[in-house]
Amino acid sequence: MTALPSSHASICAIVTGHTRGLGAALAELLLARGIRVLGLGRGTNAALAARHAAALSQTTLDLSDTAALERWLSTDALRRFTAEARCVLLFNNAGTVEPIAPCGAQAADAIARAVALNIAAPLMLANAIASQETASPAAERRIVHVSSGAARNAYAGWSVYCATKAALDHHARAVALDAPQAVRICSVAPGVVDTDMQATIRSTAPHQFPSRERFEQLKQNGQLATPEAAARQLIDYALSEAFGSTPTADVRELPKA
Ligand SMILES: NC(=O)c1ccc[n+]([C@@H]2O[C@H](COP(=O)([O-])OP(=O)(O)OC[C@H]3O[C@@H](n4cnc5c(N)ncnc54)[C@H](OP(=O)(O)O)[C@@H]3O)[C@@H](O)[C@H]2O)c1
Repeated sequence: MTALPSSHASICAIVTGHTRGLGAALAELLLARGIRVLGLGRGTNAALAARHAAALSQTTLDLSDTAALERWLSTDALRRFTAEARCVLLFNNAGTVEPIAPCGAQAADAIARAVALNIAAPLMLANAIASQETASPAAERRIVHVSSGAARNAYAGWSVYCATKAALDHHARAVALDAPQAVRICSVAPGVVDTDMQATIRSTAPHQFPSRERFEQLKQNGQLATPEAAARQLIDYALSEAFGSTPTADVRELPKA
């Protein structure tokens, strides 16, 4: 395994769901560290583009549209973005917690969208990044699946979310066994982060999500991490020598940098 380049100028990062929440904070912090970012999202992040016109590229893509993602991956856009980099980071961040409802009360199209967004897109992007054809074989590639505590603990009402995040964890375990050349992967839980996703969770009817009160209390007691703090922990870990030494991790259990 090659060492990371000492200058961040030769590192580039792909961040999915960079329009808001944790993804916006990841993109902002990477750019602030001099790392070029390609944001993939349904929309664009105008505020970020205004601050980092040269170093931010954005591609508009609904990542729950598997066929659209497949078409984009068949272009040379990813190869062009990563061509000069000595290290390529992929943050598979975009995700949805919906549908929040017991099995039997979930809309079929919402299940399909969640599986496409939370599983298919990260796996397709990971494969593209790991491919020898999309980046120089010598370039190190580091894949971060943004997982969740829900991958490791089951919650009533979250069966789709729990299953999709557990899939990312198990994907990382199996890819680590593939040991692709110059590729490291880790599925990392970011903690409980104060984003729109948490607002969605707190607004769910208790009969759909019995643990709602716990998340309300975390918010009331100021126990949610800011997106900036969670993003810093994820990036510090992704850039560290330890990254990928285990296929799953939780930022709350990482040694303090
Ligand atoms: N917040 C937490 O406490 C928490 C805890 C554990 C894990 N996570 C994970 O952290 C990641 C980020 O969560 P967050 O809290 O920042 O969520 P969020 O505030 O809901 O933001 C989700 C991001 O994903 C994007 N996205 C949603 N659907 C998309 C689609 N079809 N195509 C492309 N982009 C799409 C959104 O873009 P639009 O602006 O287009 O909607 C947005 O940028 C998720 O994977 C989540 O599961 C969060």
